[in-house]
Order: sequence, then structure tokens, then C-alpha cells
Amino acid sequence: MTATTPRLKHEVKDLGLAALGRQRIEWAGREMPVLRQVRDRFAQEKPFAGLRLVACSHITTETAHLAIALKAGGADALLIASNPLSTQDDVAASLVADHEIPVFAIKGEDNATYERHVQIALDHRPNIIIDDGSDVVATLVKERQHQLSDIIGTTEETTTGIVRLRAMLNDGVLTFPAMNVNDADTKHFFDNRYGTGQSTLDGIIRATNILLAGKCIVVAGYGWCGKGCALRARGMGGNVIVTEIDPIRAIEAVMDGFRVLPMAEAAPQGDLFITVTGNKHVIRPEHFDVMKDGAIVCNSGHFDIEIDLKSLGAKATDVKDVRPFTQEYKLPSGKSVVVLGEGRLINLSAAEGHPSAVMDMSFANQALGCEYLAKNKGKLEPGLYSIPEEVDKEIARLKLEAMGIKIDTLTSAQIEYMNSWTSGT
Ligand code: ADE
Repeated sequence: MTATTPRLKHEVKDLGLAALGRQRIEWAGREMPVLRQVRDRFAQEKPFAGLRLVACSHITTETAHLAIALKAGGADALLIASNPLSTQDDVAASLVADHEIPVFAIKGEDNATYERHVQIALDHRPNIIIDDGSDVVATLVKERQHQLSDIIGTTEETTTGIVRLRAMLNDGVLTFPAMNVNDADTKHFFDNRYGTGQSTLDGIIRATNILLAGKCIVVAGYGWCGKGCALRARGMGGNVIVTEIDPIRAIEAVMDGFRVLPMAEAAPQGDLFITVTGNKHVIRPEHFDVMKDGAIVCNSGHFDIEIDLKSLGAKATDVKDVRPFTQEYKLPSGKSVVVLGEGRLINLSAAEGHPSAVMDMSFANQALGCEYLAKNKGKLEPGLYSIPEEVDKEIARLKLEAMGIKIDTLTSAQIEYMNSWTSGT
């Protein structure tokens, strides 16, 4: 539904879903104590007063809390989906109806609609862009040079988006500061590892209802997301194979107790394949050809490029929906390959994304990254900036406090020891 109410423009599936969205947003809030504290402080201090902000993110209950915190801080915020399949329509409805935050996102939107929403986001003339995969920033740089003077900076929380920002920086086209939220310890140690680990298996189970125990599960990529998927797949009784291109990560996987093989050798063995590399065509025709009949493939990397679905589609004699988010491709050999979530992020297409408890820290980083940009407006050179260490540590401290966990502090003798070099063997 596209509508213009007297108050605000929006494009969501059905405003009638707002009550359900409200309930689910409230539920998620129970697990987001750190972001709640940030929101309460923002409400007092209004760090974004007078600033227009765009967030291109998965429209989930957790993102709702981020948007509410930004609005409490005085931002004129507008939200679009960062993926055509990840929007929770009830959440989008509640943000519009209950919080008066404009949202342009509908689950299942086609690519043309997705791209139109990116243009709508840029029409908002943002000063700060919270991006998730860097599509808004890339479009700004390619098509809206005249708006660059509006920009204070951007924040980016995905590994994929950081790779793109680095490429922009190398090409000399990134003319404003970018906060590398992904690199914060309180982000990738938890969100990428435990968030992706749990939510990916959640998506696979919701889509297929298969038993994971005893299955041969191939995880492509052993970055933080891959580590999480492999860890949790093993925890469910899977026999896990890891594929890698990086020799150090490959050793890590071996010493973490996983078998490491090239994809060509893993392909005939796997019952289930999960790609989390951030690169394209990790599973391609020569792999489909040797897979077992009924092998299941899915992706939990940011973009839908990791599985070469175009080639699979070209090979297939028939493609049919067998369950929601589950399609069977029949091959000329008589075997079939099952693809989940159209090769898009399975944790957000078939499930609800990372649990709130990890997004609490990721989004506290996002919110504080935006505040850092606003406070340092005009003072930062173009480039990628880490979240300041003291902010990262403070987020961890607040999280521990909320979890009721206490830790030790250094004694003065220990502080002195750590700062001296004279006492050795
Ligand atoms: N990315 C992964 N999980 C997410 C979630 N629950 N909300 C927003 N972005 C996410």
C-alpha cells in the first residue's frame, strides 16, 4: 500500500498489522537494555536535533528500537529495507502508525521497488546514513553528487558494506567519514558469531523442518559469521565441513575441530550447504553437478550472489515451490537441488534475524556511531573510523551490568605492573 496521510508518507504492506508489530517490538525491547539506556540519554540530550537521518536496515523488531532511539534523539529519521525479503511487515506498520517514523519497506518487494526505496531515502536529503551493505551510499556516490555537501557521515555494520566502503575509499570517491560499526568488538564477536550462528540455523529449520543431527553440513567461509554457523551446526549434531580460501582461517577451522576441504570435494558429501563468505559464486555449476540428490543450499551472507542461482536456473528442467522459502530445482540428471530463501539471507528471509540480545549491542554501536558523527560534524576527514574503544568497552560494561554479571578490576599493584618493564624473570 502506498499512502500519503496528512502526517507522513510511507509504503508498508498493511497498517492494520501495527498492533501485532507493537506487541513484538515491546517483546524485543526486554532484551535490549543497552540501547534503552542510550535512547533515554538521547531523549535528554537531543544529539540529532535538526538532522535528517536515513537508515537502510532490515526492518525488524530490533531495528524498530534503533529508529525509536534516533527519533528520541531528535533525528528526522526515515527507514528503508536493506533486503527485499527481510522486512517484518507488522513492525513496518507499527513504526508508521505508532511512532510516526516513515518506513518504505514491504516483505517480498521486487528489485525495482527496492531501488525506488533507495531513491526515496536519498530524496529525504540525509545528513547521516545508516547503511547495511552500502547500497544507499553507493547510489549517493554514483547518482547524487550534488547531495554530498549535505552529508555528515555514514555508519556501516556489515562486513560486505565495509569491503565496499574500502573500495570506494581506494577509488577516491568516498568524500565523507564512515563509522566502521562492524569492527567494534561488541558488534562482530557477538552479532556475527552468535547472532548469525543461531539465526541461520533458525531460518533453515523454519524453512525445512529437517533434523540437523547426523547431517553433513558444509559451511563456506570461516569469518565470524562462518565460525558461528559451524559452531552451532556442530552443536545440533551436524558433521561439519568448512571451506575457506584464507590459509589462516583454514587452520583455525582445523584446530577448532572441523574438517576443511575445497568446495569441489565437499560438494558430493554435503546434505546442507551454508554460504557466508561475502563473495560471489561460491557454489556454482560444477558443484551442483556433483551434489547428492536433494542437497539443500542456502546463504547467510549479505547479498544473494554467493550461490550461482542463475546458472542453476538455466540448467534446471523444472523449478517448484515445495514449502515457503523452499524451492526444488530439478536437474537433467534426474537429481534435484533445494534452494532456500532464493539465495538471500536465510536468517532474515525465513526467520527473524539475529536475536534482540545481540542486536542490542550492534545497535548501541550504530546509535553511538551516529552521535559521534553528529558531534564531530565537519571535523573528520573522509575515511573509515573505528568506534572509539571506550565506547565499545562501555557498551560491554552496560551489557554485563544488565545481565547481572560482575567482573574484577585491576589492583593498583597490577596497574603499576602493567605499566612497567623493569621486573622480569
Ligand atoms: N541483521 C541481522 N539480524 C538483524 C536483526 N534482527 N535486525 C536488524 N538487522 C539484522
